[in-house]
Amino acid sequence: MTEIQDYTKAMEILAEYPTRDGLHVDSLLDSDSHGALTYNDFLILPGSINFPASDVSLDTKVTRRFTIKAPLLSSPMDTVTGHNMAIHMALLGGLGIIHNNCPADEQADMVRKVKRYENGFILDPIVLSPTATVEDAKQLKVKWGFGGFPVTENGNLHSKLLGIVTNRDIQFHDKPQDSVTTVMSTDLVTAPAGTTLAEANNVLRSSKKGKLPIVDKDGLLISLLSRSDLMKNIHYPLASKLDSKQLICAAAISTHEVDKIRLQKLVDAGLDIVVVDSSQGNSMYQIAMIKYIKQQFPQIDVIAGNIVTREQAAALIAAGADGLRIGMGSGSACITQEVMAVGRPQAAAVRSVCSFAARFGVPCIADGGVQNLGHIVKGLALGASTVMMGGLLAGTTESPGEYFVSKEGQLVKAYRGMGSIAVMEDKGQSKEGNAGVSRYFSENDKVKVAQGVAGSVIDRGSVTKFLPYLVTGIQHSLQDIGVRNLDSLRDGVERGIVRFEMRSGSAQAEGNVNGLHTHEKKLYA
Ligand code: IMP
Repeated sequence: MTEIQDYTKAMEILAEYPTRDGLHVDSLLDSDSHGALTYNDFLILPGSINFPASDVSLDTKVTRRFTIKAPLLSSPMDTVTGHNMAIHMALLGGLGIIHNNCPADEQADMVRKVKRYENGFILDPIVLSPTATVEDAKQLKVKWGFGGFPVTENGNLHSKLLGIVTNRDIQFHDKPQDSVTTVMSTDLVTAPAGTTLAEANNVLRSSKKGKLPIVDKDGLLISLLSRSDLMKNIHYPLASKLDSKQLICAAAISTHEVDKIRLQKLVDAGLDIVVVDSSQGNSMYQIAMIKYIKQQFPQIDVIAGNIVTREQAAALIAAGADGLRIGMGSGSACITQEVMAVGRPQAAAVRSVCSFAARFGVPCIADGGVQNLGHIVKGLALGASTVMMGGLLAGTTESPGEYFVSKEGQLVKAYRGMGSIAVMEDKGQSKEGNAGVSRYFSENDKVKVAQGVAGSVIDRGSVTKFLPYLVTGIQHSLQDIGVRNLDSLRDGVERGIVRFEMRSGSAQAEGNVNGLHTHEKKLYA
């Protein structure tokens, strides 16, 4: 029989038995009949596989105007997303939201590092003057994480190019006070103004140099092209980039007046998306902040939150939000539900807000409570465009902080809730007073009420291995469900083609490893 005959026959058989297996998503999440659910309480039923997993596209909107290729975000927490995480999340197709528990200038520096990381033409390269020393060059390398600085007559762009100081020129030079002109390379290969990116890339390939300065007819430096960027373009096909080839950059702010100054600094540093970070997003402070941003910086997309109900969503959409962040009390380091008695199980919250926000074309982030790959797929199936993780990424090489050995002898990294006493006290010590995070409306009180805990998480290796595992895993999951992309997943769920089923406590136990004397849970290779 042909494929079509097979299919027709199967449909005929099914037609005789019109009841379908599983539940429509609305019946699954009907809280009147069985209370609110979260990710572990249900499964998605399999569909039919008729395409390879590698065909599954995970392109998705993160806000109204920004699309990325992997639906994965890292949380704006000071043990999760600094510039290194933001760079790698973007290179791998996702997005890292830079935390704000630091002075505004420090956060703006992190934004700058992300925006400078991968460029076509670097239009604002770091330029040295002939009076700069080898020590200056070494310090700049530490500060920016890259080397290869052009030297011009007056130390600025649009001035005569004299040479380039590369890593090799300064690495073993033991007279730190020498002028950079004594060590810089002067046998330069340059390309003229007007060279296209493709032509410049070819010159760079054949010249075997690390940097290609672009100069005008008078030898004045106009821009720079970097070999390592060329390599990055090859190694990171999913990278979240703009047409300019710069990585997309997002960062968090709070809702206070001083955050307007912070935001200006972030925008000056090249910010694309701002996340207004609050544990209860439906406040007059946040609404005023969203309106201010939309009016003052129309080029920036605003993600508002956190919220868990449609009523909260309506208020933020009305204020102009370009994206919503969903979750209250589901985070792994969070005690909000216990302490405040306020919040919502994450599956119920995601479905409720996403189905509402979809009517207004506002993409949603399922934030928190993601303990494994399956939870990511469930968040997406319930309507989220992207999923945000804290604890799952805190143990990677790219998160801020150092590894240490726990009492039990395991390699771990610190992970702390942004509403933990540890964070609130750190913030209190900050020089700028109200400089950093202010997410819980309690940071400046005499008595601080914690909504999070501080602890540690196990080493997870690099996100350059972990994210591709998540991406490939999601592709396989969508293949099992029988959908080729996230739009089809959402559409299938809405139309009742993708079906769900609740699972009892014993069903959950059955779905995990059981009955083995010992086992090692290695998740990817
Ligand atoms: P996780 O991925 O389950 O670890 O959750 C991360 C999310 O928890 C973050 O993106 C925040 O929305 C939330 N979160 C961060 N810090 C706290 C806290 O101290 N209390 C409650 N929720 C928190």
